[in-house]
Amino acid sequence: MTTSTEAALPPAIEVTDLTKRYVGADGRSVLALDRVQLTVGRGEFVSIIGPSGCGKTTLLKMVGGILPWDSGSISVLGKEVSGPGPERATVFQSFALLPWMTVLDNVAFGLKVRGVARSERHDVARKLIASVGLAGFEESYPRQLSGGMQQRVGLARALAVKPHLLLMDEPFSAIDAQTRLLLQTDLLDIWSKTDLSVLFITHAMDEAVFLSDRVIIMGARPGHVTNVIEVDLPRPRTEATRLDPRFVDLTGQVWARLRGMIVEETAA
Ligand SMILES: Nc1ncnc2c1ncn2[C@@H]1O[C@H](COP(=O)(O)OP(=O)(O)OP(=O)(O)O)[C@@H](O)[C@H]1O
Ligand SMILES: [Mg+2]
Repeated sequence: MTTSTEAALPPAIEVTDLTKRYVGADGRSVLALDRVQLTVGRGEFVSIIGPSGCGKTTLLKMVGGILPWDSGSISVLGKEVSGPGPERATVFQSFALLPWMTVLDNVAFGLKVRGVARSERHDVARKLIASVGLAGFEESYPRQLSGGMQQRVGLARALAVKPHLLLMDEPFSAIDAQTRLLLQTDLLDIWSKTDLSVLFITHAMDEAVFLSDRVIIMGARPGHVTNVIEVDLPRPRTEATRLDPRFVDLTGQVWARLRGMIVEETAA
């Protein structure tokens, strides 16, 4: 529920007129993003969906402060982004775990970098490992875990630094379909117990609708926002949500818009 004090706070993310052009080594340039507008409210869960190459990863990297842009602005919690910050954590598709470190040390890594004492960071990491369902695997190495388990470690690692904002770039796309459904509900469960705001990139329409308060649809050449769909499904979302006629209807709405774009593209 939004109180009047919360409403007065600046949003988690505010992107205004964001434009990005890549110039390749051969001098050819690609307009990756063209005047993109986007807001993520405090505690909101927002997904971005759009065809390959429409600039989703580019946008997420810029919000994460690891890629510069040409014009426009990005504010996080009311502050102009000028680099990475402790209030933002990213979860990647490829897990990006450190293979020579145990699960415990991977999860505690961000705290180590911040100078948190060993026993304290291990305490925090153990709690998070349990909260993502991996108790008992603290001393395992990433290679000993399945993809789904590795991504749970990736999530615990991101949460360890207590970010306000979670940036997720297709985090479940390398994971089998059944495990993916379980990870979706686990992510919502964790999110509902915190005040995290989430910006989540996916190619899966059902995933976007199931997780989100809003789904932002992007188009390519150049990357731009084409539609925003409000997801008015009640929370908590459960397995029953997937069978709700409204869920099916909203997923159909997302597909209708994406399909329109793909058909136009192939006809062009
Ligand atoms: N480092 C780079 N140099 C030049 N062009 C780039 C670079 N990174 C991305 N691009 C181009 O910018 C556009 C957007 O790329 P981006 O990776 O952000 O898309 P995406 O929406 O994340 O795609 P996908 O769904 O395949 O992950 C594409 O046309 C891509 O070729
Ligand atoms: Mg991408």
